[in-house]
Amino acid sequence: MNILVLNGRPKGERSNTLKITKAFLDGVSSKQSHNINIVNISEKDVQHCRGCFACWTKTPGKCVIKDDMGELIEQYVRADLIIWSFPLYCFGMPSKIKAFLDRMLPTNLPYMRINEDGICNHPSRYDLSHQRYVLISTCGFCSVKNNYDALLCQFEIMFGDKLTKIICPEGELFSIPQLGGKTSEYLYYAKLAGQEFAEYDRFSEHTQNKLSELMYPPDVFVQMANASWKINEASENKDQNDRSGIAGIVVCSPYPF
Ligand SMILES: Cc1cc2nc3c(=O)[nH]c(=O)nc-3n(C[C@H](O)[C@H](O)[C@H](O)COP(=O)(O)O)c2cc1C
Repeated sequence: MNILVLNGRPKGERSNTLKITKAFLDGVSSKQSHNINIVNISEKDVQHCRGCFACWTKTPGKCVIKDDMGELIEQYVRADLIIWSFPLYCFGMPSKIKAFLDRMLPTNLPYMRINEDGICNHPSRYDLSHQRYVLISTCGFCSVKNNYDALLCQFEIMFGDKLTKIICPEGELFSIPQLGGKTSEYLYYAKLAGQEFAEYDRFSEHTQNKLSELMYPPDVFVQMANASWKINEASENKDQNDRSGIAGIVVCSPYPF
């Protein structure tokens, strides 16, 4: 099987998320070897879509921008399994992997169709019926709800029942060597998920439940996370108030991380 891993972490290999992805790949490869291609999107020349639609009109199927996307689309179309591996950023995907996704436009045909369920879409230019998709993502908060809603909805629209997910809140724990006991347990289940996926195309309910469990209870996690910044809410509010001179007003960021 041709496996393409799209690593959307801006810092490339140094990724909490990629640790889970590599454990999953170990599991997938435990019985049979596969052709695995890990692409660090951060190292690729992927420019932003210009929205000119030339890939639908003047040069069907080809983008006018000469960067790494032509080669990446070839790899994408050939892959049997595509693993989207990235951290959650502002309730969605990091910007460079979003640029990659936008630049996939040439893989669609220009005309629209209305499906039986009344939903409108563009057919694919390629036969991608052999493909399956896995989304692997970590995030900084301890909750999936209200955090992953938009991203999961987007991936379900794009890939429907061909999508399998590993969503791991409290992802920063993977960067703390002292917590290796806890995180290696999670990686054990990520590997098991890979083994099950290779054999049955899905994870068992038990494995899925284990991967959905928090590594630490929310209150313990929040305490640890806040302590790690060495800045607490009271001192931060005091600093902000000192700077703004508006004593007593709580300063809130639009994104609570
Ligand atoms: C710009 C930015 C935006 C982020 N947005 C969110 C967010 O919306 N929700 C969340 O829970 N964590 C958020 N995080 C935290 C990361 O998802 C988290 O640290 C993740 O484990 C990093 O994984 P990585 O090592 O694979 O990059 C954000 C981090 C950054 C730098």
